[in-house]
Amino acid sequence: MKDTILIIDFGSQVTKLIARRIREFGVFSQIIPYHLLKEKDLQVNQVKGIIFSGGPNSVDEKFAPEVPKFIYNLKIPILGICYGLQLICKNFGGNVFHSTQREFGKTFLKIKKKSLLFGKTFKNNKSYQVWMSHSDAVKKLPKDFESIASSDNCESAVIENKKKKIYGVQFHPEVVHTFKGEVILKNFVEIICKCKKKWNMKNFKEQIIKSIQQNVGDNNVLCGLSGGVDSTVTAVLVHEAIGDRLKCLYVDTGLMRMNETESIKKLFRENFNIKLDIVNAEKIFLKELSRIIDPEKKRKIIGKQFIKVFEKYSKKQKNIKFLAQGTLYPDVIESSSNMGDKSVTIKSHHNVGGLPKKINFKLLEPLRELFKDEVRKLGKELKIPNEFINRHPFPGPGLGIRVLGEITKKNIEILRKADEIFINKIKKKGLYNKIWQAFCVLLPVRTVGVMGDNRTYERICVLRAVTSVDGMTAEAFSFPDNFLEDCANEIINNVKGINRVCYDFTSKPPGTIEYE
Ligand code: XMP
Repeated sequence: MKDTILIIDFGSQVTKLIARRIREFGVFSQIIPYHLLKEKDLQVNQVKGIIFSGGPNSVDEKFAPEVPKFIYNLKIPILGICYGLQLICKNFGGNVFHSTQREFGKTFLKIKKKSLLFGKTFKNNKSYQVWMSHSDAVKKLPKDFESIASSDNCESAVIENKKKKIYGVQFHPEVVHTFKGEVILKNFVEIICKCKKKWNMKNFKEQIIKSIQQNVGDNNVLCGLSGGVDSTVTAVLVHEAIGDRLKCLYVDTGLMRMNETESIKKLFRENFNIKLDIVNAEKIFLKELSRIIDPEKKRKIIGKQFIKVFEKYSKKQKNIKFLAQGTLYPDVIESSSNMGDKSVTIKSHHNVGGLPKKINFKLLEPLRELFKDEVRKLGKELKIPNEFINRHPFPGPGLGIRVLGEITKKNIEILRKADEIFINKIKKKGLYNKIWQAFCVLLPVRTVGVMGDNRTYERICVLRAVTSVDGMTAEAFSFPDNFLEDCANEIINNVKGINRVCYDFTSKPPGTIEYE
């Protein structure tokens, strides 16, 4: 049982940031969509505080998101953020009005009263910059609540019920534009909820190893290894827990990067005492994918083929009941429907959504509570060499989602060559570890070019390189002068099939990192 802050998600774009900030303090936090919340969720861990996130709705709409009323009887401190504050206000008998004056972006908060939430950082009668995104605001405060700070357009920008330990802030303390927003969250977590700081990778490693042992019992586990950070950390972790009852399988789908299979084999043999089997399944993957253009269909087909290969392999082994996967927290959040029917599932990631509904394995996903940078920290704790830990993420469906349109062996080869040139140049320039992820994408359009005396009509290759902390948001990487021109020249001169190279400046959001 670990001290936990439970975040009830009402659909805000920045809910994940709340979880991240709290984990950075050394306290575990977990997000749960409002419509999935059950009383038993509060018993799994030691929930010491609850945060209601922001959200796009108005509390007075007909089907506005709600919380089950038992939440208010638990005597656990609550902090409502934006929509969360308005919901608290409505639930306790106050009301909210829809203002024509939207407050969006930076604004100033004036402190009216001392509070545990402000601690010593925020002084009475002083103003501080905060980040707002609302048009609704508190009109009438509920009984026993006090307004303790205001902004230009919002008289009750922070409210508190000291006795019940229920707080609400109209602004977003989780975003960096709010001055010392992290102090407000920290005061809530450490002073009001009295959480102990026990969330660190050493403790997590010990706990998760125990729980893998209990969960797996005497059975064997199969781990599909891609050579990426997540599957490597998963394999090493499960190996620490159950030793050689872990069977590792690398499936060469034909969608891998240049020399990937050989280098994974070598890296694994040199660094770990874990047996790795390799299956070449290129033919069947490419056959099943032929003429498929829809990205979600591609993912589903790839997921299905992976399972077929795993099932065939496990029949030859004994007692394999579990399939270990490197599913991460963002995969879980992005693939699950946060907002019931209304939400948009961004992508069914191979780790989660690409798998068929019925499989003959139980899933073992020891990293499903972690963000990517936390996985890297866990990797260090497991003494995995930096060579693995610093590898850029590579998606489960591989180059299959980077050859846009139809996947053919020829297209994959074209992309593989371009990708190798781009990545090698990045490594040579010493930029690899400054970039979160870099890769090439082959577009399904042709453009005209001239090469020598001939006219060409070939494909466009897009170069993508982004910086990010956890893959949830990202920005295009700024390369030094001439670097991109050099890449473009080298690719066009050496890769038959590409006659034009573009660089993608889109950030996430509004774009995603991958193209499909
Ligand atoms: P997006 O494209 O959603 O990517 O911004 C965020 C991170 O997830 C990786 N990604 C995938 N990983 N299967 C995976 O295992 C997938 O289908 C998939 N799609 C995206 C992406 O490479 C990035 O690191």
